[in-house]
Amino acid sequence: MEKLMIAGGYPLKGTVRISGAKNSAVALIPATILAESPVTIEGLPDISDVQILKDLLEEIGGTVEFSENDMTVDPSSMISMPLPNGKVKKLRASYYLMGAMLGRFKKAVIGLPGGCHLGPRPIDQHIKGFEALGARVTNEQGAIYLRADELRGARIYLDVVSVGATINIMLAAVRAKGRTIIENAAKEPEIIDVATLLTNMGAKIKGAGTDVIRIDGVDNLHGCQHTIIPDRIEAGTYMIVGAAAGEGVLIDNVIPHHLESLIAKLREMGVQIETNDDQVFVGPAEKMKAVDIKTLVYPGFPTDLQQPLTSLLTGAEGTSMVTDTIYSARFKHIDELRRMNANIKVEGRSAIINGPVQLQGAKVKASDLRAGAALVIAGLMAEGVTEVTGLEHIDRGYSHLVEKLNGLGATIWREEMSKEEMEQMKNA
Ligand code: EPU
Repeated sequence: MEKLMIAGGYPLKGTVRISGAKNSAVALIPATILAESPVTIEGLPDISDVQILKDLLEEIGGTVEFSENDMTVDPSSMISMPLPNGKVKKLRASYYLMGAMLGRFKKAVIGLPGGCHLGPRPIDQHIKGFEALGARVTNEQGAIYLRADELRGARIYLDVVSVGATINIMLAAVRAKGRTIIENAAKEPEIIDVATLLTNMGAKIKGAGTDVIRIDGVDNLHGCQHTIIPDRIEAGTYMIVGAAAGEGVLIDNVIPHHLESLIAKLREMGVQIETNDDQVFVGPAEKMKAVDIKTLVYPGFPTDLQQPLTSLLTGAEGTSMVTDTIYSARFKHIDELRRMNANIKVEGRSAIINGPVQLQGAKVKASDLRAGAALVIAGLMAEGVTEVTGLEHIDRGYSHLVEKLNGLGATIWREEMSKEEMEQMKNA
């Protein structure tokens, strides 16, 4: 097992290229199940979630070619193999296999998903949608069983705005009979990306990116070629890196419009930001001011950038309040930041950060993906060396993190953990 070592305090400068969006990739790959002929997805990120989904498609009989960042899936010989255990439990997005397999085979058995622990993460809205389309859904020993004689379009109002439920219902509905209307749908760019792939496959979808999506079911879907959108959360993370430790960082291959809420907040903090069609420039860090942040569904401030931004706010003058309205327990990075000398307390769903403080290198543990990003940013800001364990979380979502940061002039490397360190981690 490896840990990440970061020697903090080096100024960062240069260009970093953003990879394809993780949260699109994990839906686009299962979506290929719905076609009858090969689908190519270009620009996938090199992350472990993508690798696991590739393995799962092969487990159900798909032929998958994956080289560099492009994946071609031939779904023609896939079967509705039950997947109650094993790799499905390694990532939360394996729930997209439910919608896709239900859409294609009218049945699926999928183990309840794993993923980051950020508080309760129910999938009741996904299930409500599948049932409305005519599926019988049961939970048997930790696996969801879905069966339908036929799927019929329905009007589905989501009680909670959910990215996963919106995409999953789209996946199940594209081959249902008749019209499905999803009301109170999520509007994230990843939903538009999935709808674009499905449309290229022959689906009839209108309104993706608004809160009402209309889907007219078709009998068959065919292969196509699709290029994934850039990862707005990875881009946002590097923008925060630039603000935290930069002397001018250019983020390339990004859609600035997807990051308006972060751009506005960074500017409010006093960070200099310039944008063009597909790049964001983050100027040299000056004195930063405290700001308040409330996470909201898109286009509000993304919960996925709340943790990385908390690290940056430790260096801002004054008191900042970060409130997460999406997840109740997305503050596991705070204790670790405190070990690094941060002055933060958590009250209910808010973190209150007093700054500026000079962070100090320490041994810290990433409890989830974005907590990992937050600790890396803190490590870059800190005096001395920071050791981050829990790398398996970071590897789920950040493509070539070490290479990209070293490319900007950081001093960061992976190191094998000793037996004693692994023992200590197990007992912690
Ligand atoms: N919710 C329900 N019932 C449901 C579904 C969701 O109550 O059936 C609640 C959740 O508990 C949460 C809120 O609704 O409080 C939003 O959840 P959503 O379904 O939108 O989240 P998700 O689809 O499970 C995706 C991303 C997350 C990101 C959230 C919110 C993927 C694979 N994951 O999760 O990304 O935080 O949307 O934007 O797309 C990450 O990348 O680090 C990550 C956790």
